[in-house]
Amino acid sequence: MKFFIDTANLDQIKDAQELGVLDGVTTNPSLMAKEGITGRNNILKHYVDICNIVDGDVSAEVIATDLAGMIKEGEVLSELHEQIVVKVPMIRDGVKALKYFSDKGIRTNCTLVFSPGQALLAAKAGATYVSPFIGRLDDISTDGLNLISEIRHIYDNYGYETEILAASIRHTMHIIDCAKVGADVMTGPLSAIEGLLKHPLTDIGLAQFLADYKKGN
Ligand code: E4P
Repeated sequence: MKFFIDTANLDQIKDAQELGVLDGVTTNPSLMAKEGITGRNNILKHYVDICNIVDGDVSAEVIATDLAGMIKEGEVLSELHEQIVVKVPMIRDGVKALKYFSDKGIRTNCTLVFSPGQALLAAKAGATYVSPFIGRLDDISTDGLNLISEIRHIYDNYGYETEILAASIRHTMHIIDCAKVGADVMTGPLSAIEGLLKHPLTDIGLAQFLADYKKGN
């Protein structure tokens, strides 16, 4: 399973990279705004800064919602750095843009996916990644994890190579559950990744080992 971090915060990206288990970064316009990154040039520079920290794919989202605009923006984004993956929303022109980019060998991440049908369309259009938002489904009393299972089943039926990128991960158990049902990638906050580390028996066991070592030395 690949681990992506879902943030535009450079310190958190550095921390995750230093942990040694980071495979990429996802961002979105809200995450950029949260870090105070505004203005086209600053945003583009920030993507390059992220690419220079992490060894892996970095999703950069288009703002346009029409085909011509998405193509123009996506081509600029993909030229920024070889690690950039163009993030395209699951809308009618977005599907056309996914197909266009796929035909040109530009890698894509289809975002804002909330149903198996949307995921099927993204795969048919040649998306590199599909991003089902499981936390936002949970927020409205819908089973987000079940969406990951349904997409896995559909993709396996037909051998689609689009990678299932479980997004809107909110906590550590989301990661475990997504791993169980076969998500290819997860993207979430550093805190959710760090939660995987913790077990009280590890801490108790280590304290005991160190205490016993001290007794004999
Ligand atoms: C995915 O690429 C999105 O950036 C993200 O996972 C959305 O998560 P949220 O629902 O916590 O905002």
